[in-house]
Amino acid sequence: MTLLLDPIHLSPSIPIPPNTRGLPPSSFGAGAVSPSVGTSPISYHLSNSPSAATRGRGNSLGHYSIARQLTAFLPPAYPLAEEPQAHEGGKRQGKITILLLENINLEAADFLKKAGYEVDHLTKALSEEELITKLPQYDAIGIRSKTRITAKVIDACEKLLVIGCFCIGTNQVDLVQAAKRGVAVFNSPFSNSRSVAELVIAEIISLSRQLVDRAMEMRQGIWNKLSKGCWEIRGKTLGIVGYGHIGAQLSVLAEAFGMRVIYYDVMPIMPLGTAWQVESLHELLQKSDFVTLHVPEIPDTIDMMGEIEFASMKQGSFFINNARGRVVNLEALASSLESGHLAGAAVDVYPKEPGSNGPGFNEDLGNFIPRLRRIPNLILTPHVGGSTEEAQRAIGSEVGNALVRYLNYGTTLGAVNFPEVDLRAITTEDERHIRICHVHRNEPGVLKRVNEILGEHNIEKQFSDSKGDIAYLMADISDVGEEEVEAIYSRIKQTPANILTRLLCE
Ligand SMILES: NC(=O)c1ccc[n+]([C@@H]2O[C@H](COP(=O)([O-])OP(=O)(O)OC[C@H]3O[C@@H](n4cnc5c(N)ncnc54)[C@H](O)[C@@H]3O)[C@@H](O)[C@H]2O)c1
Repeated sequence: MTLLLDPIHLSPSIPIPPNTRGLPPSSFGAGAVSPSVGTSPISYHLSNSPSAATRGRGNSLGHYSIARQLTAFLPPAYPLAEEPQAHEGGKRQGKITILLLENINLEAADFLKKAGYEVDHLTKALSEEELITKLPQYDAIGIRSKTRITAKVIDACEKLLVIGCFCIGTNQVDLVQAAKRGVAVFNSPFSNSRSVAELVIAEIISLSRQLVDRAMEMRQGIWNKLSKGCWEIRGKTLGIVGYGHIGAQLSVLAEAFGMRVIYYDVMPIMPLGTAWQVESLHELLQKSDFVTLHVPEIPDTIDMMGEIEFASMKQGSFFINNARGRVVNLEALASSLESGHLAGAAVDVYPKEPGSNGPGFNEDLGNFIPRLRRIPNLILTPHVGGSTEEAQRAIGSEVGNALVRYLNYGTTLGAVNFPEVDLRAITTEDERHIRICHVHRNEPGVLKRVNEILGEHNIEKQFSDSKGDIAYLMADISDVGEEEVEAIYSRIKQTPANILTRLLCE
């Protein structure tokens, strides 16, 4: 797995012994000097994991913990505990715990373990009741599409800081409730772009050579050697609708095969290679030998390909949809194929799709499905555009890194339900620095109040943004004495708009 962050730059937290901070023991991470963390040089200095108890939710009494970012080989600035802390229920107190469900990629689990977290890895999804029983002991959870994190689950999990969706979609999570409770949600929307682009290339060649029909005939014992209606793709025009992550990748691959590429997008986008942007969908449809859709499903794109649009395409051209099911009127597509106007099509996504693998691709999904199954040179695939081992690994890496960046540094870049805020990392050179991560309701006067508290110190850098009702402030203040940390924490936590306050120390 390619790591976006080198393990050496992750920030295992350093526990501050009670006698130096005067805090209750439950707020400390477990720690000891030992070479037990992986094999990287970081293990020379750090054996503890990042500490979990950095939270102060609402106005209830919470804890804070000290996360610390080290540059390699620098000694820790705070004394480490002589002995590892006692185990309680098989878990070390204060250690960040992550529950990974639904057989999330093992490399992602290893990555999180190497980052110093305690990771429990389950292959199955959990029901709402099971989550309510099990999840409250964890600081973070990783899920895929089958686990539903409802408002009830979120409300039951006082410790929960972050949800990682190791997939594209996030509609299995109550994002609004998560934000209200200060729980950030991350996903991986673009990790499978390359996989989709490659599938489209395969489909372009397969359609122009009627490959799938020939292969199916051979399975039925039929030898049907023919060249009529079969074409090379070199020199043909590919029209890409939506020149985003997938469309742009595809553009490069198609040119390598000698295709001419044109694209239509609602945004003016710089072309790659020798592709060029056309002014309207209609122009693209008229000029292309192959039309492929890579747009999101939004009100503007629903049914964007219907009877009129298929009629605008060249006689004998091909159509591909790997975007979303509702952007194409499949009955209009079927008519265009049956009439012979289009020479073939590939469809990977449908307005309604079965919930599980098995014999579910039938009229229950729409009475046009049996009709589609009979049309020659129509390649039907079960939404596999992004389904590759590489994409799963990339998703694991992206979401794993997002969790670490949020837990250790407070960074919300890529969060789906929080404003995206980031600050340059604190390092050991920034002695006596504290990072404040303050999730609050988006109400007037919050920054004034918080800055009154922070104003007694030097505010090195500060960034705040809002998204709907939720706002997030990150601020680094310097020259903070150890004895002042708790007071700063509890004063911010008691501000009326507080949802969650975490402090991270150098
Ligand atoms: N089949 C699969 O397994 C699979 C896998 C991944 C993504 N997808 C789908 O592929 C689609 C594209 O994904 P992406 O990552 O490239 O998205 P993206 O957001 O990177 O790009 C979408 C592009 O479409 C453009 N666009 C929006 N509305 C448009 C319109 N009305 N006309 C023309 N262009 C328009 C946007 O400006 C953007 O450039 C999405 O619908 C996504 O859900 C499918």
